Amino acid sequence: MAFPEILSFLAPHSVRRCLVIGPNSVSAKLVINSLQKTFVVNEGFGHSRHVQAIENVSLEVTDGEFVCVIGPSGCGKSTMLMIMAGLYPKTGGEIFLDGQPLSEPGLNRGVVFQDFALFPWLSVRENILYGVKQKKIPEDKHNGIVDHYIEMMSLQGFEHTFPNRLSGGMRQRVAIARALALDPELLLMDEPFGALDAQTRANLQQVLVDVWEQTKKTVLFITHDVREATFLADRVIVMSARPGRITAEIKVDLPRPRDILAPEFVEIERNLASLIESQNETLHN
Ligand SMILES: Nc1ncnc2c1ncn2[C@@H]1O[C@H](COP(=O)(O)OP(=O)(O)O)[C@@H](O)[C@H]1O
Ligand SMILES: [Mg+2]
Repeated sequence: MAFPEILSFLAPHSVRRCLVIGPNSVSAKLVINSLQKTFVVNEGFGHSRHVQAIENVSLEVTDGEFVCVIGPSGCGKSTMLMIMAGLYPKTGGEIFLDGQPLSEPGLNRGVVFQDFALFPWLSVRENILYGVKQKKIPEDKHNGIVDHYIEMMSLQGFEHTFPNRLSGGMRQRVAIARALALDPELLLMDEPFGALDAQTRANLQQVLVDVWEQTKKTVLFITHDVREATFLADRVIVMSARPGRITAEIKVDLPRPRDILAPEFVEIERNLASLIESQNETLHN
């Protein structure tokens, strides 16, 4: 079966699908072209094992687009994000951000992880300031930038608090403020709300939508939660079980703020869930 036919086979009819178009289209902010990643795991005594995490992933993201990547656990989502953050080397393919090849870590990308990767020895204010200091911005502008993101993420009153005194939700607000303060070209988020309780998670999803509408950042957001993807994304990319490949794309053409109980919302959520389910079946067969 050819690749496009596999896509049609996997995705339900009610879902609007589109294929990943050819690489290097002029309008794309981010171009990922045949990305590959194989880990070589050293097993000792001169033995090593090859783990192919990502196989031939191609994707284009336009400026200001909110793209969610969803797929079964272990399918290579975090690996893909780490490569885009420049924290893992790729073993094949190309990535371009604003037309420039991307390989090293850089201040043009802001990253938010699930596990509150804040500096514990720095206060909220100092955490946000940290990245700003790395950029070539005149020093007299630093405080204004930090204040702006403290206000945007509703962190007023916590400026001098240290991360260990904050709730999980507040820590993720700081992590988002810290990433945004870099004024990044691309915001990379790896299950940033995955460790939060349901209420805090729903709050932060809405906060993120509000912030995205204000800043119009290009976002690549990884999740395994179909409701979260449907709530947040302009477009959802579905990955197969390892080695991760893109098997479907769903455009979420619903106005924001989105009503999670609306029939159109529930239909997309259900379609996504069935796509994931088919991946899990592949995994267990
Ligand atoms: N540093 C690593 N060394 C070896 N294998 C790894 C490493 N990181 C991830 N993997 C493997 O690559 C696959 C994809 O992992 P990951 O990207 O974390 O998946 P996901 O985020 O989709 O759950 C898994 O099989 C995992 O065990
Ligand atoms: Mg992961």
